[in-house]
Amino acid sequence: MPDLCALSFLKDKRYFISRNSPANWRQIEDENETKNIWDGLRRLNGVNAFADAEFYNIAYPGYEGDLKYYFKQAVIGHNLYLGIGTGRIFSEIAQANNEIEGIDNSQEMVNHFKKAYPNLPNRVWAQNVLHAKLAKNSYDVIIAPYSFVQYFNKSDLVRLTKKIYSWLKPGGKFICDTFSPFLIPFRKSGLEVSARIQGDALINFFIKYDHFNQIMREVALITKNGVSQKVLKMTMSYFFPKEILEILQSVGFVKCGTFGDFKAKNFHPSTHEIIVYLGRK
Ligand SMILES: C[S@@+](CC[C@H](N)C(=O)[O-])C[C@H]1O[C@@H](n2cnc3c(N)ncnc32)[C@H](O)[C@@H]1O
Repeated sequence: MPDLCALSFLKDKRYFISRNSPANWRQIEDENETKNIWDGLRRLNGVNAFADAEFYNIAYPGYEGDLKYYFKQAVIGHNLYLGIGTGRIFSEIAQANNEIEGIDNSQEMVNHFKKAYPNLPNRVWAQNVLHAKLAKNSYDVIIAPYSFVQYFNKSDLVRLTKKIYSWLKPGGKFICDTFSPFLIPFRKSGLEVSARIQGDALINFFIKYDHFNQIMREVALITKNGVSQKVLKMTMSYFFPKEILEILQSVGFVKCGTFGDFKAKNFHPSTHEIIVYLGRK
């Protein structure tokens, strides 16, 4: 278990937001403070968030309404799900649609999924989607839920989009979401600190933004009854609506819709998501 006692700053309640203020978050602006905390977090013995399926499920339960939305989009047809994770959404769709296939880079995630849903058709495999060689013109719908596209830098996202376009049948659809970067406190260069409760676990999140490269580095500390359980780490890109649309349209996709949440609300800087719905010609 990672030794959180080694991090003296965590004794300061301002950083280690308690169970009594789960919705709380703050931005640490002081450069020295930020450096001190970030160096401490880097020293912690953490794992890639997708290398520990059990704790991933605790820290990352999904966006509000995403399951229902993607279920509706992918329940009919020969479809492909990019980044199935532990199967939170994929399992629901696969129970209703035995033609859906799923890919995920993490063998740990795929193993966890297969163990949790042994009765679902085995149409899931572990592979980096950038290396996947799939039949052209073969899918009706390809979905990439829960910020999947944010795990790619811009040039890899262009490569990925070209592949997705070629795998879709003419008239096929690609649907993905990213979280809205307008929620990021741009005028401040420091560290974002927040906390959330999930069951009996308290998860403290620390996010350091690199606004020049549009990258966010996230550390999630999971504790139960004040005892450290796990440190998960991940790095993501962030994209603005126009940017993501330009990337996806650059390979020939046509915009069918952009929304701000999973109930098809119009995008607005205060909405949490950008959902992009595109069609292949
Ligand atoms: C944020 S999780 C989403 C999991 C799931 N869709 C959900 O809603 O809980 C992103 C998933 O994408 C997978 N992933 C990241 N990069 C990938 C890549 N290059 N190829 C395939 N899967 C990838 C990760 O292993 C992880 O399981």
